[in-house]
Amino acid sequence: MKSIDVFEALDLVPHPLVIVTAGDPEKPGRRGGMTAAWVSRVSWDPPLIAVAMSPKRYTYSLIKEFKAFAVNLVSKELENAAMNIFGNLSGREVDKFEKAGIKPLKAEKVVAPLIPSAPLILECKLVAEYPAGDHIIVVGEVVKAYKASNSPPMLWHESQAKQLK
Ligand SMILES: Cc1cc2nc3c(=O)[nH]c(=O)nc-3n(C[C@H](O)[C@H](O)[C@H](O)COP(=O)(O)O)c2cc1C
Repeated sequence: MKSIDVFEALDLVPHPLVIVTAGDPEKPGRRGGMTAAWVSRVSWDPPLIAVAMSPKRYTYSLIKEFKAFAVNLVSKELENAAMNIFGNLSGREVDKFEKAGIKPLKAEKVVAPLIPSAPLILECKLVAEYPAGDHIIVVGEVVKAYKASNSPPMLWHESQAKQLK
């Protein structure tokens, strides 16, 4: 068996590609979102989802404040916004929704902005946080879900966004 570099190996693990959004959908200075790949379902009952987030992210501070977030899957039509806006700019300096030409919808069960063009959206209530090295595992209970389109979701693999099918 061939041994390979640990970081090279971790880059070969496929991850979902999502935009995690948080804050007040109607207030440009108080809403935000970030692209994330370190995302996983972690419990059946209750249905929980976890995101590993650097505490430096503006989105993390909004999640703490509003005790909620939304997970928006990225399809081909959101790829540019995910890579160049939500995954690259800071919500402290720019309203990423305006920059991406996205008019967010209001979540129904929590306070969070939703990206209407995402193929799948999960509204989450913040239920726990665990330190994990230089990241924090943010755990949310999925309290409402929407299937907005049949566009296939993208994956993050080998440092590239890839189409699922
Ligand atoms: C493809 C991709 C995946 C990313 N995955 C994560 C992640 O899982 N966790 C994280 O903390 N940051 C991740 N980032 C970095 C954040 O999206 C980026 O730092 C963002 O600008 C933070 O914005 P904010 O400070 O407005 O929250 C990722 C970026 C990209 C482009």
